[in-house]
Amino acid sequence: MNREVFKPNKEFSKSARIKNMCEYQDLQEYALEDYEGFWGSYAKEKLEWMQPFTNVMNESNFPFVKWFEGGKLNVSVQCIDRHLKSRKNKAAIIFEGDRGDKQIITYLELYYNVNKFANLLKNEFDVKKGDRVIIYMPMIPEAAYAMLACARIGAIHSIVFGGFSAEALKDRVIDAGAKVVITADGAYRKDKPYMLKPVVDEALRGETPVKKVLVVERNGEDVTWVAGRDYSYNELIKHQSGKCEPEVMDSEDPLFLLYTSGSTGKPKGVQHNSAGYILWAQMTMEWVFDVKENDTYWCTADVGWITGHTYIVYGPLAMGATTIMFEGVPTYPDAGRPWKMVEEYKVNQFYTAPTAIRVLHKTGENEPAKYDLSSLKVLGTVGEPIDPPAWKWYYEAIGGSKCAIVDTYWQTETGGHIVSPLPGATPIKPACATFPLPGIMAEILDENGNRAEVGEKGLMCVTRPWPAMIRGVWGDEERFVKSYFGDVKKDGKPVYFTGDGAIYDEDGYITITGRTDDVINVSGHRMGTAEVEAAIKKHPNVAEVAVVGKPHEIKGEGIFAYIVLKSDSGIADEVEEVKAINKVIQKEIGNIALCDDVVFVVGLPKTRSGKIMRRILRSIAKGEEITQDISTLEDPSIVATIASAVQSCR
Ligand code: WTA
Repeated sequence: MNREVFKPNKEFSKSARIKNMCEYQDLQEYALEDYEGFWGSYAKEKLEWMQPFTNVMNESNFPFVKWFEGGKLNVSVQCIDRHLKSRKNKAAIIFEGDRGDKQIITYLELYYNVNKFANLLKNEFDVKKGDRVIIYMPMIPEAAYAMLACARIGAIHSIVFGGFSAEALKDRVIDAGAKVVITADGAYRKDKPYMLKPVVDEALRGETPVKKVLVVERNGEDVTWVAGRDYSYNELIKHQSGKCEPEVMDSEDPLFLLYTSGSTGKPKGVQHNSAGYILWAQMTMEWVFDVKENDTYWCTADVGWITGHTYIVYGPLAMGATTIMFEGVPTYPDAGRPWKMVEEYKVNQFYTAPTAIRVLHKTGENEPAKYDLSSLKVLGTVGEPIDPPAWKWYYEAIGGSKCAIVDTYWQTETGGHIVSPLPGATPIKPACATFPLPGIMAEILDENGNRAEVGEKGLMCVTRPWPAMIRGVWGDEERFVKSYFGDVKKDGKPVYFTGDGAIYDEDGYITITGRTDDVINVSGHRMGTAEVEAAIKKHPNVAEVAVVGKPHEIKGEGIFAYIVLKSDSGIADEVEEVKAINKVIQKEIGNIALCDDVVFVVGLPKTRSGKIMRRILRSIAKGEEITQDISTLEDPSIVATIASAVQSCR
């Protein structure tokens, strides 16, 4: 496992917040020795409290942990109001539209826009503290205003990624019990308008708790307006006052829900609360990206995912940074688009997913050389393991061999990064998330709860609760406990298990090896195989289905479906059948879950008790030789039959 080591850039380290590994170790020791002292002092220093907290953490009802009890604050104040003294004319958000249109929104403008939006929700739609609001929006500044407006009035937002279908949106609307949906007519992609509002209309057909829909008019295309339900943001906002008193929130009042895939069942509404989440969002922005006052920071995620929440909106704004929001796709009009933007805005920190790096590398290898990328200081990756060739191109062609690459490991549930290099301190090994961040007791454990041996794959855990840890699964306490605290115990006590495997190398570096459950990672998007299976099963011709992940050159993982058709389905044309199955997926989940491979088989490898042996299916999908013991299968010969069906599709 010996890998080349890249030392931090000396010039950069001099002014970094954490300058070397000694400073890192001191911080980690401080946290180990005095956990509450560590977190309490940062919470005091970093957060704008309306009323100070009286207790740092309360674990008495573990795993339902409370942080900063007694404290009162408002996250929108942390992100906006507190900056008005020194940064009112600083750019808070720089927006670049798909077609090159630009907007610079200063902190003072952000203040007015969010206050008006908050008043609109409060006064016109009667949204109150604790109400749930679904946001189904493109990447436009109004999406950020909507989030912060909810935070200001104490409403709990739940963003649904714009690529999800009407069915998926409806499920989330109902599960969250949302009163309001905020959407847009649509937006632009590759210079063409696309639509969102019709998806909302379809999602709200039939019984739903939604009373009002707010529509931001972005692309001006015709949409249907339902009288008494749908309202134009562009109209209503004109009449709102620019001052809305922030709701006084408890530290543990919920800030948002974000639905994410688990290994079983429907997506779960991951709940994050106010103080702990915003504290860690800000601290990781400062430590991991080391953004300085005059820097321009760009994260290319979508606000529909946790990365967009923490590292486009909440983290950068909490620390008073300038954050770029980009509506378009990175390869349009060509694969030089991001580099052109880096040059133009003199971007200092750039944060993206390995899939994007692979696409940009493959489709525009020589594009970076056409632009001046010298402003860059820190490059980040997130969402999936990055492979060494992509890492190397990122480091050399984009970073000019002088920027640290922070391979940030985290999840929707962790709120912010948990394992990541520090750009001024950590000697980096390519494609390696390196060490736990200060304050995070992340440890690779074996199944017995002992620290994993060097080189042995173990379970990526966090052994103490931290402020930004998931607070619950909306409406399902039991699922929260079972999903995250059921599997691994250390010293007899349950610990948080991420669902990922990981390995220590001889220097204690952590490499994430990927999910150990039935969650797959497609282009850095998390997808439950059970969800895709449930969608496919809705097709009337399907008798049985098993979905697995398969390595994919660009996407990291692709979706591979084994389907057993009903004997009376009378399929004449397999190509048409695959199309029909993908149509069902499109309807139930959205385009992000379309299958890369569909193979029709006569049966699935099952044990005598009826359990599908997915490991065998994964091996076949990869084209690997089957080394597992198949003698326990009900019908061992099925393995060869399936393998030859897969072969003949290649
Ligand atoms: C994976 C995205 C390897 C992991 C922030 C995790 C990673 C899942 C990395 C969470 C990384 C995230 N290296 N794998 N640096 N970062 N993952 O909830 O499997 O959308 O469990 O959050 O992405 O995906 P989620």
